Amino acid sequence: MSDVQFKQIVSHAKEYGFVFPSSEIYDGLSAVYDYGPNGVLLKNNIKEYWWKHMVQLHENIVGLDSAVFMHPRVWKASGHVDAFHDPLIDNKDSKKRYRADNLIEEHIAKIEAKIEKEVKKARKRFKENFDEAKFLAESPRVQKYRTQIEEIQSRLSNALKENNLKELKQIIIDLEIADPVSGSRNWTDVKQFNLMFETQMGATEQSASSLYLRPETAQGIFINFNNVLKTSRVKIPFGIAQIGKAFRNEIIARQFIFRMREFEQMEMQFFVRPGEEMKWYDVWKEKRLQWHLSLGFDASLYRYHDHDQLAHYANAAADIEFRFPFGFKELEGIHSRTDFDLSRHESFSGKKLRYFDPETQKSYVPYVIETSIGLDRMFLAVLSASYAEETLPDGSTRTVLRIPAILSPVKAAVLPLVKKDGLPEIAREIFDDLKWDFQTIYDDKDAIGRRYRRQDAIGTPFAVTIDHQTKEDGTVTLRHRDSMQQERIHKNELKNILKNTLNLKTWLG
Ligand code: GAP
Repeated sequence: MSDVQFKQIVSHAKEYGFVFPSSEIYDGLSAVYDYGPNGVLLKNNIKEYWWKHMVQLHENIVGLDSAVFMHPRVWKASGHVDAFHDPLIDNKDSKKRYRADNLIEEHIAKIEAKIEKEVKKARKRFKENFDEAKFLAESPRVQKYRTQIEEIQSRLSNALKENNLKELKQIIIDLEIADPVSGSRNWTDVKQFNLMFETQMGATEQSASSLYLRPETAQGIFINFNNVLKTSRVKIPFGIAQIGKAFRNEIIARQFIFRMREFEQMEMQFFVRPGEEMKWYDVWKEKRLQWHLSLGFDASLYRYHDHDQLAHYANAAADIEFRFPFGFKELEGIHSRTDFDLSRHESFSGKKLRYFDPETQKSYVPYVIETSIGLDRMFLAVLSASYAEETLPDGSTRTVLRIPAILSPVKAAVLPLVKKDGLPEIAREIFDDLKWDFQTIYDDKDAIGRRYRRQDAIGTPFAVTIDHQTKEDGTVTLRHRDSMQQERIHKNELKNILKNTLNLKTWLG
């Protein structure tokens, strides 16, 4: 998908009430977005699809909704006060600010693009005799590029590991990286920038104490570990799932709702016996990919990326990456967080956060496997994989969102062919019946073709048209969004067809 198409998706999202820039009448607020009438429906459906999979379908996972505000020591214990930062660098000429590691990664991506170009050229030259694997292994140019990439990656990874900001700048200088906007190489030193938003709680300045807006929902789960253990009948291994807002003062926030300053996470912490974490890490890596695949998008849109460089709390980590319009990027993280968080909260709070295992008769701090997905990122993944512009056999075009029906904002549109002859009355009756079970739209404005297009554009899987024949035999036309095929069915069959299509078991079973 090209950049142009990404821009079209962004403007489609706005035009059809999915996503609006925040505070637009005041010229917007950078990297903050609002969800419109269709957006909130899609977002809620994604949440529900995740929540039902996690909490309803797993006997050993319970839910939680913890507060955004937490005691400030939570973030000291979690390591976020000291280690949750990004290395930033300013260009002195353009006054633009960048993440130093991103500038280097973008340079690596450019070298990768050169390799792809070599492959393309060779494919053209050798045609059907082309052996890509052999070419990649033997081409001296490709080898040269690969060595360059490896060298840069190793320097970058060491610099980040050692928190060596001087070396980060040196890499930028050595690679002659220029400001993408101005082309200038006039860089400041690299500084660390903490991503947490700080705010005050309290009535007066003197009595107020500093708080952070949570940068992840996970800590709310850890600090409620004892509460959940005491009040639910969970036994190890068990999970606690939560959906909620998180806030990060991202240095650069681009690419629409991909990287926001206020966003929502769907996280699950799975508590296991120490020593069993790798087994469960593999289980959750696979389960989460299956959840994504259950939506029916092409499997080639997803891939794993195993981390070499681990966060301060992890002993293994992988991303499920999704092919967004701007390339493969992280959609979800699966992390083996060891006993880091619970142990740190034990020592900072002085309270025991342990599990007494009736099988082993031992008490221990459980290890944790975390699955963490950004709801807004998932929304963008669904939107971009669903968006299609099609030329129809009659030469006309349509824009359609092929959203999986289970997630579609509206499930059915009820459309009387004309606004007379008693058709609206029958259509209303059908609408009033369907609305109890499904998000349904009643639309009698414009020609029927235009109404179909409107529903295609918001991803409504079914359109029900009431015409003069309905008056005679109770049948309606059911139009399917993706195939555009129409079938004649009795109006009494509608509910069952919708129920079968939206049956959770057929999606997640
Ligand atoms: N508790 C672990 C954690 O927060 P993370 O990799 O920093 O890990 C998890 O974030 C997920 O949250 C990411 O995979 C991404 O989907 C989403 N996410 C992170 N930062 C985001 C941002 N600025 N805007 C939107 N989504 C974001």
